[in-house]
Amino acid sequence: MRKRMRAILAERGGEPAAPPSGRPADWPVAEPSSTGRLRLENRLVQPPLAGIANWAYRRQSRRHGAGLASSEMIASFGIRYANRKTLGMLTIVPDEHPVGVQVFGADRDAMVEAARAVEAAGADLIDINMGCPVPKICKTGAGAAMLADPVAAAAIVQDMVRAVDVPVTVKMRRGLTPRTSDPAETARRFEAAGAAAICLHPRAAAEEYEGSADHRITADVVAAVGVPVVASGDIATPEQARRVLEDTGCAAIAVGRAALGNPWVYGEILRGAPQPRPSLDAVIDEIALFAADAALAIGESRAVGYLRKFYPWYLAGYEIGQPALAELLTEPSADAVLERLRQLAAASAADIHDAIDQACAPRARRLLSQPLDRSGGD
Ligand SMILES: Cc1cc2nc3c(=O)[nH]c(=O)nc-3n(C[C@H](O)[C@H](O)[C@H](O)COP(=O)(O)O)c2cc1C
Repeated sequence: MRKRMRAILAERGGEPAAPPSGRPADWPVAEPSSTGRLRLENRLVQPPLAGIANWAYRRQSRRHGAGLASSEMIASFGIRYANRKTLGMLTIVPDEHPVGVQVFGADRDAMVEAARAVEAAGADLIDINMGCPVPKICKTGAGAAMLADPVAAAAIVQDMVRAVDVPVTVKMRRGLTPRTSDPAETARRFEAAGAAAICLHPRAAAEEYEGSADHRITADVVAAVGVPVVASGDIATPEQARRVLEDTGCAAIAVGRAALGNPWVYGEILRGAPQPRPSLDAVIDEIALFAADAALAIGESRAVGYLRKFYPWYLAGYEIGQPALAELLTEPSADAVLERLRQLAAASAADIHDAIDQACAPRARRLLSQPLDRSGGD
């Protein structure tokens, strides 16, 4: 995953994109879509992201255009035992709807209780994690390990569907390993059990983030089921979004890593045209908004560590040297980081002015040495 993240950040470091040329006619991403009874304003989704997608992050995704934002994965046992941190993850704020909340666990009763709690918390959709490849989760039988026994997994889906009124969906990998999987057959079972949609990340759990997401598998799953399929994996540009929608026939696409520190990518994909990189000032304003929400969502002191993950993502491609970035990461609060960033932005603006002055000086001297009437219309 780190390799892919580095690749995404390296792409970001390149030249600013061309200015928007307006949305191409019939731009598919901007069309409305639906998941069960849930209507979405477009076909662009922010997927579940553990350790990232609290309500501050989801609200940011929605503000930038995602039609649906999903929570981080939430432990069903944490809900059962009323773990304080887990219950905090169930917080939903009024202006983020529609919102999906993802739960994980392999215990049928605990998953049913979790579904009821999530519905009571106000989620518009309940998603079941069948994709997490992390050993700590899989060794409990949860996450991608559920794909080892699709019959048992489908029974959990069915119990949860019966327990709540909101749509229940499944987010899955293609299987545990590339060879031991039949994702189309597995998805069919989940549909038969009542799943309202399937979100597919078409890598096997064993592959983690190696190679690339093979969306031919997404197309197979789309062909196998009647419910909407959301494609997740390696979608970072308007063109990739269009291609996956058209090649697979999926109902919507999810954009995960590409939006970390770059929520503008949602607007870009939604409008169907690359946009110039926002100015450093605009990035700082965005961080300030996000940091204020993060402090409310998880508390000021936890937000310090949480936000530190994001600074390198936001600042990739800007003229902030490694030493300055390393210093930022030691600042004790988000306010201190923002103040330092504003100083850096002002210093780099001053550098730019100096550079412009120097570049323009010979021409300015020439103009000043000419009679006024010759320079007037220049
Ligand atoms: C930091 C991080 C956390 C993730 N957490 C979850 C999670 O909690 N539940 C889940 O189903 N998928 C999770 N995923 C997988 C993503 O939702 C997505 O399917 C995957 O990253 C591929 O999409 P992308 O290439 O757009 O990032 C996570 C991915 C990342 C990078």
